[in-house]
Amino acid sequence: MEERNSDAANLKSEYDRASEVKAFDETKAGVKGLVDAGITHIPRFFHKSILCDDSISTHDLRESHFSVPVIDLGGLNGDPFERREIVDRVREASENGGFFQIVNHGIPESVMEEMKEGVRRFFEQETEVKKAFYTRDFTKPLVYNTNNSLYSSPSADWRDTFLVRMAPHPPKPEDLPHVCRDILMEYSKQAMRVGVFLFELISEALGLNSNHLNEMDCAEGLSLSCHYCPPCPQPELTMSVAKHADIDFLTVLLHDDIGGLQVLNDSKWIDVSPRSGALVVNIGDILQLITNDRFKSVEHRVLASHDGPRISIAGFFFTGVLPTSKLYGPIKELLSENNPPKYKEITVKDYTIQFSKKGLDGIKALDHFKLRLDKIE
Ligand code: OGA
Ligand code: NI
Repeated sequence: MEERNSDAANLKSEYDRASEVKAFDETKAGVKGLVDAGITHIPRFFHKSILCDDSISTHDLRESHFSVPVIDLGGLNGDPFERREIVDRVREASENGGFFQIVNHGIPESVMEEMKEGVRRFFEQETEVKKAFYTRDFTKPLVYNTNNSLYSSPSADWRDTFLVRMAPHPPKPEDLPHVCRDILMEYSKQAMRVGVFLFELISEALGLNSNHLNEMDCAEGLSLSCHYCPPCPQPELTMSVAKHADIDFLTVLLHDDIGGLQVLNDSKWIDVSPRSGALVVNIGDILQLITNDRFKSVEHRVLASHDGPRISIAGFFFTGVLPTSKLYGPIKELLSENNPPKYKEITVKDYTIQFSKKGLDGIKALDHFKLRLDKIE
């Protein structure tokens, strides 16, 4: 009897959660709407789940000697010695922590500042105007909502986001919000140039011809995920981005000086301290797959904060859900008898769908595509 009562209570709480999420979604005003309304307690569905969070202590940094390396791309004036040194550093970072920062990458400071301001203007415009972009339909040129996986993740992230696909088919200018139209175009152009260059360095780091990854179309697609995390009244109860690994080939992230980004290294969370003028680069799942696990797609998260709004722009190099028949598997040149393929071939679209179906539940999507290697007992 008791058991049945608690089942009923569980069902009721599940039901309440679903309707609370729906009611919130229907406001189309996002997390910012909650903060504007003056809430002091965050709704329960933002409370972090034990599935996403883990027992790793957040600020236990003294024990770790790891920090995300900063690579200066400025000295590259055709000097082959200098280039080799940079490629070595890219290799080391990609094999170990999966993350590095770049400075002197050529994107002017003014463009980076204006990009963050453009995102701020989008989220801080009249709610009524913003609502027109609120959707979960990924065929739309710009998708604004609170958490793509609001209905499937065990807990919601404390952020509003808009996602816009800038390549291979740039949106029509009139499909973009006028408050950030020009800067989205300009920043994407610059980010694409940096991405193509990074794929050259990464190809060289793998011992391949400079053009190898670009010829595989790793830089064909670029989507910008623009996050706005309003100040959170109870930051210890939630996350601004729950633990996840990126699904793309490569991510180039621009974040402001609020901080909160952490990467997992040797079972410890390491802060990525904001650095003026720098971009954060990380290896995504599909690059880990095509390098047969040589380069690592590492889990990361963003802590919620009393400070804010925190603004960040993640540039994902991949074509997402666009239809394609192009298959990606471990690169033949990297395989040998001692290094047989660990993954089956996939399309970027199938990988993306597999990932979105499961939501941010703290489990790596890559494991679903591992080949079962026959073990000799
Ligand atoms: C992401 C991400 C980090 C940040 O969008 O995948 O990890 O600082 N973002 O916004
Ligand atoms: Ni990420």
